[in-house]
Amino acid sequence: MKKYTLILTLILLVGCANYILPTAKELQDEGIVNETSEIQSIIRARNNLTNACLDCHRVTYPQELSKQGWERVLPPMIQKARLGKQAMDDIYFYIDKTMQCVELRKQKELEKQKALEMQQAQSAN
Ligand code: HEC
Repeated sequence: MKKYTLILTLILLVGCANYILPTAKELQDEGIVNETSEIQSIIRARNNLTNACLDCHRVTYPQELSKQGWERVLPPMIQKARLGKQAMDDIYFYIDKTMQCVELRKQKELEKQKALEMQQAQSAN
């Protein structure tokens, strides 16, 4: 039973839970960004990803491509969206911070799961 809950949690974690577009506020609350300039960069990136990039296809989430994948895909997409270098730097920064956020949440979720299992094991005694 315990094994099943752990496996289920892992499936959820590597599945939909990864596909997020965290807001500047969320990244701030997680302690991932702090400075005003960083927050402004996040806001611009998220705006572009949910507006300019949506002219031609659905939103693409940071986690859908690897870092190398993004480095290959983003420059031509920036051109397609008629955006500039600032927008590109913003989006790279946002991708990086989103990955950090995903990792952090995964870690927290696993710790919560472990604590829960410890509790269950103790109450079984
Ligand atoms: C003018 C239309 C247009 C705009 C604007 C646009 N895209 Fe695209 N995008 C495409 C087309 C067409 C494809 C599929 C063919 C290709 O790769 O060129 C694509 C494919 C992609 C892919 C998948 C590529 C792969 O190889 O897996 C990603 C990721 C992507 N776009 C991200 C973005 C992002 C981020 C933006 C905003 C900066 C953006 N796109 C803006 C037209 C656009």
